[in-house]
Amino acid sequence: MIELTETGIDGLDAILNGGIVKDSTTLVSGNPGAGKSILGLQYIYNGVDMFDEKGIYLSFEENQQDLREAAEAIGLEQWSEYVERGDILVYDKKELLSKNDFSSSLDMLLEDFTDSDYERLVLDSLAMFNLFFDDERERRTYLLKFSDILKENGLTTLMTNEQGAAIPQSDIGLENYLTDGNIYLLQTPTDSGVKRYVWVSKMRKQNIETDIFPMEITDSGITVHENASEFSMMNHGDSPIQ
Ligand SMILES: Nc1ncnc2c1ncn2[C@@H]1O[C@H](COP(=O)(O)OP(=O)(O)OP(=O)(O)O)[C@@H](O)[C@H]1O
Ligand SMILES: [Mg+2]
Repeated sequence: MIELTETGIDGLDAILNGGIVKDSTTLVSGNPGAGKSILGLQYIYNGVDMFDEKGIYLSFEENQQDLREAAEAIGLEQWSEYVERGDILVYDKKELLSKNDFSSSLDMLLEDFTDSDYERLVLDSLAMFNLFFDDERERRTYLLKFSDILKENGLTTLMTNEQGAAIPQSDIGLENYLTDGNIYLLQTPTDSGVKRYVWVSKMRKQNIETDIFPMEITDSGITVHENASEFSMMNHGDSPIQ
């Protein structure tokens, strides 16, 4: 029986057939503004709020205040409270980039990783993480080592990755093979605003819905619409049906 970790994000667990496989690493890819960080924030917050699972949020891109503001903008009202309580551990870019090399940063994080209290982890983003390394071989070695450490310590992980094309033209990076799952967030501009979609292209050990589903980002974060026709009805014209 495979254990699943629910994201608690409306509609997403349903298309994942229940959630993400426990202790796995999933890559969340998409263009800038696609909603990768929001998905990560909700995943960590819902862990505490809905499932009594503590989480660690590593941000190479934002500082504590940015994260708090981003969380509050999507209705994660108790973000600060959970951080103060230690239910959510945040390492922001200031802390993560304060060390000269990744080994030192990893040493700083290891204690928390091995603390069995924490079950969820977000790394935002892999692109910034990669900047630690000049050398491709070294980067790959560390990425593998890092993934192993997460798995060994029972952390179910989302790693965000800036990747425009859902099917890259060339150079399918190591991260695509390394991770157990791939979720793509897609967005297209239209006359009536941006249309957003989510596509779960891979989820090891799991039978998933591989269609592309519409999603929205609102004041309450991400909602995935399992039923595409219902979604297009709601968004026909400029004002949604009340
Ligand atoms: N309350 C809200 N209502 C509607 N849309 C929102 C709301 N808050 C944020 N957004 C939208 O969410 C998107 C930002 O999402 P997010 O920061 O998660 O993107 P990202 O994929 O992490 O981008 P980047 O690669 O630049 O870090 C923006 O397009 C923004 O317009
Ligand atoms: Mg982001």
